[in-house]
Amino acid sequence: MTAEGHLRSYRLVAIPGDGVGPDVVAAAKRVLAAAGARFGFQIAWTDIVVGGAGIDAYGVPIRAEDLAACAESDAILLGAVGGPKWDDPTATVRPEQALFAMRGGLGLFANLRPVSVHPALVPASPLRPELLDGVDMLIVRELTGGLYFGARSEAAGPAGARAAHDLLPYSEPEIARVARLAFELARGRRKRLTSVDKANVLATSRLWRTVVHEIATEYPDVALEDRLVDACAMQIVRSPASFDVLVTENLFGDILSDEASVLAGSLGMLPSASVGARRTAHGLHGLYEPIHGSAPDIAGQDLANPVGTILSGAMLLRLSLGQADAADALERAVAAALDAGYRTPDLWPHSAGAAEACTRVGTVEMADAIVARMGIAGEITGGIAGEITGATA
Ligand code: IPM
Ligand code: MN
Repeated sequence: MTAEGHLRSYRLVAIPGDGVGPDVVAAAKRVLAAAGARFGFQIAWTDIVVGGAGIDAYGVPIRAEDLAACAESDAILLGAVGGPKWDDPTATVRPEQALFAMRGGLGLFANLRPVSVHPALVPASPLRPELLDGVDMLIVRELTGGLYFGARSEAAGPAGARAAHDLLPYSEPEIARVARLAFELARGRRKRLTSVDKANVLATSRLWRTVVHEIATEYPDVALEDRLVDACAMQIVRSPASFDVLVTENLFGDILSDEASVLAGSLGMLPSASVGARRTAHGLHGLYEPIHGSAPDIAGQDLANPVGTILSGAMLLRLSLGQADAADALERAVAAALDAGYRTPDLWPHSAGAAEACTRVGTVEMADAIVARMGIAGEITGGIAGEITGATA
């Protein structure tokens, strides 16, 4: 409650997008509403049509007015964009362009991808259980530079000799700002930072390494190590618990985070936050989305795992709205639902023994199980009792 006694209200943009996007965003909205009911805030949602859906409706992946709505919001929650319908390699208008327009246009230069392993999901991972013990890493992916934003030329020339190129540019300020954020984040965790590059080949990686080491002098309390991306890819599956925070350029971060998601049991588990330097009245402005794609083969069938999107909602509460207690409660509710054995198909254990204690659920029931563990009624009673005690003491 605010001093005036009315509920604090936040303005969020929802982008259901394509494929399973609408399924998982609907689930996350319900869980966020439950968090608001418990912690005394409400969310005013503006839904916008973006991605393949935007191409179908308006001929463009995102309209200027919708990008403006994102900029004016407190934060954005996105499901997924893309799908086979819009995948023609010769197309000049593509759903993914909406992502780049938002990342670039909103200045979201850092993508935070935490990877941890819920103990109950160890049987869902193909890795040996002992390797998963203590896994808790945070991948900080640079999001508005490199190959994604460099100049490119589509295939040109005579058949048999066609050529194309993509440029990988990085400037010192682009590297410095994401490196600084990664050092700050490492400082708040186990104080270890792995900077991932390909400095034995790429000029941009050599600049990356140089700049990261210069920034490191500002953070003597954080232990910095360099890893070449190929060796790092191996280490992520050989000794994943050895990592704390990783920071890397755009494409390396894209690839390594999909690899790391295998540790968590499913790509469907992992949340992400894309943030930059901009702050609103409540916190960092940001865009939150699961790291999975649009999975068109299971869209609209109540099969998608909503947890990645729901946990993205927790990151949104914490980073963009300053609602850390609500974020903690939401994460605890997810853990409790997993402990209680609720599993979407992607989380089904490999062994029959582990499966015995599990209940197979769809997107909606998984969200229900999490909402039920947000402790709405109990906490409101507790809150009122606490106020009364405080007033009479
Ligand atoms: C991601 C996705 C996107 C990316 C795709 C959909 C363009 O894989 O957010 O990781 O490569 O950035
Ligand atoms: Mn990706």
